Amino acid sequence: MVVVLSKKSPSAAEKDLNSIRKDRDLSFFDLVSVDQVSIEDLALLYEVARRFRDYKTYKFSFNKGSSQVNAFFEPSTRTSSSFDLAAKQLSMDTAGVAGNSSVSKGESYLDTIETIDAYNVKTIVIRSKESGVPEMLARHTQAAIINAGDGWHEHPTQALLDVLTMLDHFSSRGGSASGGQTKNLDGKVVMIVGDITHSRVFGSLVRLLRQLKAQIRTASPLTLIPTEVERFGVKHYTDVNEALIGADVVYALRVQSERGANGYIPSLREYSKMFGISRKRLDLAKKNAILMHPGPVIRDIDVHSALAAVDPQSQILQQVENGMAVRKALLWLMCDRIDGKTKEFKRK
Ligand code: CP
Repeated sequence: MVVVLSKKSPSAAEKDLNSIRKDRDLSFFDLVSVDQVSIEDLALLYEVARRFRDYKTYKFSFNKGSSQVNAFFEPSTRTSSSFDLAAKQLSMDTAGVAGNSSVSKGESYLDTIETIDAYNVKTIVIRSKESGVPEMLARHTQAAIINAGDGWHEHPTQALLDVLTMLDHFSSRGGSASGGQTKNLDGKVVMIVGDITHSRVFGSLVRLLRQLKAQIRTASPLTLIPTEVERFGVKHYTDVNEALIGADVVYALRVQSERGANGYIPSLREYSKMFGISRKRLDLAKKNAILMHPGPVIRDIDVHSALAAVDPQSQILQQVENGMAVRKALLWLMCDRIDGKTKEFKRK
């Protein structure tokens, strides 16, 4: 018999989620870097996220009475819409500031965010062009700050959803010796190709993959790789064909034109010829390798169009679905703490 979770009564659905949570709390109060996420945090987040995913758009009352401001000072489709919907599906009120905020009139990020904080919101989700903004703000707000991408630095919720996608894929293929859920990426080869230098997605992903024992390879022109990347335990290749051999995960990144990356390659056409993931290139990886991309995909430059969303090896839309589930889990666990603890902060 198939149980349709979306048909459960509100009290039964919430009881179900609570039975998975088992009175556990996260170890952090803000999320500015994946380095804050312990193995125990990861297990809790993923157990809860998988259950939220099963409930799809079900409306929970967990965070009723709490508010969230989404402050995106750079463009976003996936991260902004999923954070907003996740909050609403947990019964939070949401507001957005950014493009037309008073930052454009010269107000500082700190004054803007302290203003929002005075509304007693529970969470402020922030994306900034500059690195380090969420970390600086988190020290001065009572609200939890969630980094939705800061400059070239980190994009922690992207890495969390990416790793959930990988773990679920390997579990579905019987990846764990005990037949249960795969808990780490020991022995898996993750090959990341593209503009590594400007990628905050890489910044978070490489840290989390390392924690989960994956073997990490990068492939890019030498002009798009940070000089000290090897200190992350990464093996770098300038020949993507060589890097692909034996890969379990092929993770493509966009060339970030808005950060001037076009000036580091002869042309996008040339880049695509040398590093773009085509059918022929994907076939160099392991037989059942998966193709991932954080989006937005620049079709026929970083990934050939025919592979992008519909190819059976592509996990790109699964990543999007997992993004919603991970963000919902995060918002519930951060806003509705069982231990009643609150963060320490100091007004500037
Ligand atoms: N992956 C990602 O951050 O996408 P958006 O810029 O659309 O949010």
